[in-house]
Formats: sequence, structure tokens, C-alpha cells
Amino acid sequence: MPERRKLIVVSNRGPLSYTRENGERVAKRGGGGLVTALRGLVAYHDVTWIASAITDEDRAVSDETIDETARDGSPFRLRLVAHDESAYDWFYNVVSNPMLWFLQHYLWEVAYTPAVDHGFHHAWEHGYVKVNEGFAAAVLEELEAEPDAAVLFHDYHLYLAPRMVREEAPDATLSHFVHIPWPQPDYWRILPAEMRHAIHDGLLANDVVGFHSSRWRLAFLRCAVDITGAAGNFSDWSADHRGRRTRVDASPISIDPEEFDELAESPEVLEAEREIVERRPECLIVRVDRTDPSKNIVRGFRAYELYLEAHPEMHERVALLALLDPSRQDIPEYAEYLGAIQREARRVNDRFQSDGWLPIDLQIEDNFPRSVAAYKQFDVLFVNAIFDGLNLVAKEAPLVNMRDGVVVLSENTGAYEEIGEWTLTINPFDVAAQAEAIHEALELQLDQRRARLGAIQAYVREHDLARWLASQLDELDRASARVS
Ligand code: G6P
Repeated sequence: MPERRKLIVVSNRGPLSYTRENGERVAKRGGGGLVTALRGLVAYHDVTWIASAITDEDRAVSDETIDETARDGSPFRLRLVAHDESAYDWFYNVVSNPMLWFLQHYLWEVAYTPAVDHGFHHAWEHGYVKVNEGFAAAVLEELEAEPDAAVLFHDYHLYLAPRMVREEAPDATLSHFVHIPWPQPDYWRILPAEMRHAIHDGLLANDVVGFHSSRWRLAFLRCAVDITGAAGNFSDWSADHRGRRTRVDASPISIDPEEFDELAESPEVLEAEREIVERRPECLIVRVDRTDPSKNIVRGFRAYELYLEAHPEMHERVALLALLDPSRQDIPEYAEYLGAIQREARRVNDRFQSDGWLPIDLQIEDNFPRSVAAYKQFDVLFVNAIFDGLNLVAKEAPLVNMRDGVVVLSENTGAYEEIGEWTLTINPFDVAAQAEAIHEALELQLDQRRARLGAIQAYVREHDLARWLASQLDELDRASARVS
């Protein structure tokens, strides 16, 4: 049993959001990867979770700290921060997504976009800075009540808050996990100097900054040196800045294998699986993604089209099942991308389809049981992300797959560093090579497929979520040992 600790978890999206139905407050549990992952902390430690109030009902309870229970019955405290609505809009819809997300996944077409105009400067000052101030104030209040609690910040929404907390609480133990890639120093020069400096200076106020892969860690340390003038130590992975040392950690997150074993046999998944089995042709290619430009869905359809063009013998024998969760639709870039996905699927289908055969089965819906059913049924799992901090699908799907399926994986995902040797590697821009990889995957001999899938499964079972959580707490221990 691990020692019980006091932890303050801070993330933009919380584990719960409230709505009002028939006059009653109803809690809706968020299903995102981060929330699921951090549930393990709630089971063993005293957790106060600070997140943004998103719905009207969240705002109504934002003055209180609520005693809540996790799915397994463990108690935790939830504090929802109500930000000014326009400030939140600028924070979420202008700065965090798309600007920081686009920048950190190399999605800008720099000859044309972005333009850092007055609107963006305003959104930074009155949105991103303001919302980070709101988070920092909430953390400081919680730290006043529990001064020895460790603070765990998460993700790109909160880069400025650690510095704001550090200024008021110099001895606090602060850590920050960044779940997305870290680009090279020069790409950060898309942002004006004061902004890119504030981001790196904010992160270096933590005792530990964590990433999913050593590739992002190396880039961050280079940026810390280049942008803030910190002294980087590339052998013990730390940066010295403003009189403090920050450890820079690489520790890929994982999943709870038991949870997926159970899910795979749950009635909802079995029902969804029956539907897939009824409709599937001989060979099934599966992709499961949010409709995010970083996921490279449009190019993926083009690669599949090239495959169908080169392999008429496979017509009517293969289908691509694309299960896509619609994401961030208030942001024009995302709404346009969803349109592009639909157009491209339509174009490919119009070109090849015949009676009873739909080459691309595109389903735009958030339906996790159906995704797990598809994980069980794939012959090829197609993950061609442009850049991706980790990509949990690449770990979840092989774990429950029943068909000795082959994983085709982008070399630019964090997960590639761990399981790449057992996948077919693709460059996300090379659609010709992606088409060939589909062919190769479908042609691979059974013993080869079985060996590769088995190796991924064994790796994921050993490097599971519990192990990741333990490593996060070890890092905190090292940090507080240094501080005291
Ligand atoms: C990624 C980010 C998370 C984010 C999630 C969903 O996984 O790393 O921080 O919560 O996407 O995005 P959303 O904007 O809907 O919270």
C-alpha cells in the first residue's frame, strides 16, 4: 500500500461536470484519458482536484469545494474555478487551442498562418494570463489550508500558473506534466518573445516537468536554454534557472490493463462488437481519433485511396472503419477540419464503392464501447498522427485485439519510442509509404503478426498505469527531498 499523500491536481478539464436535470444537479463523469489515468491517484491519496467550471451548473457550485466520490467509491474534493466567460473563451478558443496546440504539433502553415494580431495579444493578456491567475489563486488557497500538499499541474492550458504560485509559495512542491509534444526552439519563435519566455519561465518554476517521451524532453531542455538562458544539464536531465533546479522527466503514461480486460467483455462492448462483426468484410482497418488536425485523418484517407487504387483485388474485401470523436467544434480550424474529413471520405467512397461495399465507414460520434469493440476486431490499426504526445489508442487497441492485428504507427508519436519496433513504421506525410504499409500489414504472415502483437501486449501489461503513477510520485519525492 503506498503512503497516503496530500495532492492537489490541477487541470483545465475536471473529472466531473455538472448539469441540472428536472431541478436536480447531476454529475457527468468525463471520460478523457487524463481523467481516467488520474483516477488511480484518487483511490490511494487525499486528492483535491482543481478544474475550470465549464457548464452553468459548474459555475453555480464554483464557490464551494465539493466532496465527491470517484467511480470506485473513493472520496476526493473538487474545486471548480469560475473564470470570466470572455476570458475563458480567449483562453480556450484563441490561445490554448488552436495557438499552443497548433504550435506544439507543428500544425501552422507558417507562410500564411498564424497572424499574431491585436486580438491575439488581447486574448493572451485578458484570457490566458487571467485564467492562469484564477488557477494560481485557487491553488494558493488550497496550499494555505494544506501547506505540505504537492501540486500536480497538467497540460498546455496552465503554463503560467506555476510561476504565479511559486512567487507566493517559494517552498511548495510543484510538478507539471505536459501531455503533448514539445517542438524545437525555433518553432517557438512564432510566438512573440515575451510570450514564449513566460511559458518556459512558468514551467521552470516547477520542481519537475514531465513528458511522455525523451524526444519531447530533449526539445524542452533545448528550449529552456535557448529561450530563458537556463543552464541545461543534458546528462542528469535538469535545468537551473533563477536559483532553482527543475528536473525534466520522460515517463510515458499508460493504461490499466485490468480495466480494458473487463471492458472488452462488458455487455455494451459485446453488443457493439456484434454489429461490427455483422458488417465487416474479410479485412478490417480501424482508426480511432478525435477529429483533430494533428491526427492526420485526411491524409490517412488519401493513403487508403492509393492502396485501393494499387490493389483492385482487395475491393469489397477490405474496409476502413473510422471512429471519430468530434472535438473543439467552436474553433473554426477544427470545424473546417471536420468538414475536410467528411469531404475526403465521401470522395474516396464515391470513387470506389459498389453495391453492399462501403470502403470507408466514417462514424462521427463519441462512443467508447464501440471503439473498444473495434479494437478487438482490427486486422490493421492505423495511427498516422502528424505529431502526438503519446497516443493512447496505440496501447489500448492491441491489448484487447482478438485477430492478431498489425499496428501501423507514425514515427512522430510518443508511443513509437516504446512499441515502435513491433509496429510497421510510417512517416505521417508520406502517403505513398502509408499505402504500402497497409498492404504490407495485410500481407504479413500469421506467426509474424502474432509475435508482434504479443510483444506489444506484454510490454503494455508490464508498463501499466500503476507504474506510471508510481513514477510520478517518486519524482515528487525526489523534488521534496531536494527542497527540504
Ligand atoms: C488532449 C489534451 C487534454 C485535453 C484532451 C481533450 O488529450 O492533452 O488536455 O483535455 O485532449 O481536449 P478538450 O479540449 O476537449 O479538453
